[in-house]
Parts: sequence; structure tokens; C-alpha cells
Amino acid sequence: MTDRVTRVGVLVSGAGTNLDALLQAAADPGYPARVVVVVSNRPNAPALGIARSHGIPALAMPQSAFGGSSEIRDRAMLDALHEHDVQLVVCAGYDRILSGEVLRSFPDAILNIHPSLLPAFAGGMTAVEDALAYGVKVTGCTVQLLEPGEADGGPIVLQAAVPVEPGDDAATLRRRVHEEEWRILPCAVELWSTGRVRREGRTVRILEPARR
Ligand code: GRF
Repeated sequence: MTDRVTRVGVLVSGAGTNLDALLQAAADPGYPARVVVVVSNRPNAPALGIARSHGIPALAMPQSAFGGSSEIRDRAMLDALHEHDVQLVVCAGYDRILSGEVLRSFPDAILNIHPSLLPAFAGGMTAVEDALAYGVKVTGCTVQLLEPGEADGGPIVLQAAVPVEPGDDAATLRRRVHEEEWRILPCAVELWSTGRVRREGRTVRILEPARR
């Protein structure tokens, strides 16, 4: 590993398939990032087991362990991220809104994956179901930068479209949305880590690779 490898902290709440995709990408010695800590607000999240099976520190930080205060929990989470010298935070299926303190501590350095083409179906945990119920013909997924303000309102880094097929139910559609997430999340982390994510106001420009 060189100094140029980005140290990533991943926040998770559930199954952890996006974490798994990121770990698979990071197993390539040429990948410019590695996961150094995983934090979950849910002690039983399978994602924590995935992290541990890779020998990565995996911390359970439920709000209940911090007097029921999400602010205090987020302060402890921030301390943990700093203790591991995290440079980039990735919300890979994290189901809580981060405190303003966390968001301000990592300006343009928190990536979030959301299972819709934002700004459609923002702000909830049922984006796939909502897209189906609305009857859209195309949905997909979005990697965005998180910042203080509206939930899911941050600048968009990458998106991938997923056609809705006749006969889809939430499970079949979610599976295909997930497959695109597993592709674009590691890609976004790579772009960020190689300095190719340039924020210009609300827009993110993806820079050409540097010439060697
Ligand atoms: C993903 O669909 C992600 O977009 C959403 O939560 C889901 C997490 O899935 N925020 P997993 O835990 O990575 O399998």
C-alpha cells in the first residue's frame, strides 16, 4: 500500500452487499482505496460480519448505547472515523441521517448510495417500491455527495439506469438495482480517490484520468 491509498470508513445498517462489492474491488492491489473501519447503528447488521470476515474493525453503535441521542452517537462515530484516519466516508445502506457535525467534518468527502435516479424517490427507505407503485419505466441508482440540507439532496456523482420490466415485483427490481449499485459505488470511490471528482456548485464533473 502506498500513502496515496484513500482510507475509507463505511457506514452500514443492513445486509452489506454494497460493502461486499467495495471490498471485492479493494482486493485488487491497484485499487486506490481501502476500507479501514466499518460502523453500524444496528448491532445485528450482517454487514458487520462481512467486515469482520475481512479482518476490518467493525463497530456497533446503536443510538440506545448513547442515552438515546443520535447527536451523541454521531459524535462517537466521528471520533472513531478520525481514530482510523478516515479520509472518505461511504454510506453503503446506512439508514440514518447524519448529524450536521459529521457532515461538516467531511466536506465533499461523504458518498451515499441511493436506490433510485435522484431526485426521484428521494428521502425514504422504499425507493424501489415507490418507483414500482408510481409506474415508472426506468429507475436506477445514484451515488451522491452528502452535505447539510435536504436528505438525498447532495450533488450527484454517478447514476445508472435500470429499466422496469413487465412483471417486476420489488424483489426482482431491487436485485437489478443492486447489481448496478455494486458497479457504480466502487467506481465512485475510485474516482474520488484518484482526484477525479470535481465539485462545481451543484454539479460534479468527472475529470479525465491524469496522464502518467
Ligand atoms: C441499497 O439499495 C442502498 O441503495 C440503500 O440501502 C441498500 C443497502 O443494501 N441505501 P446493502 O446493505 O448494501 O445490501
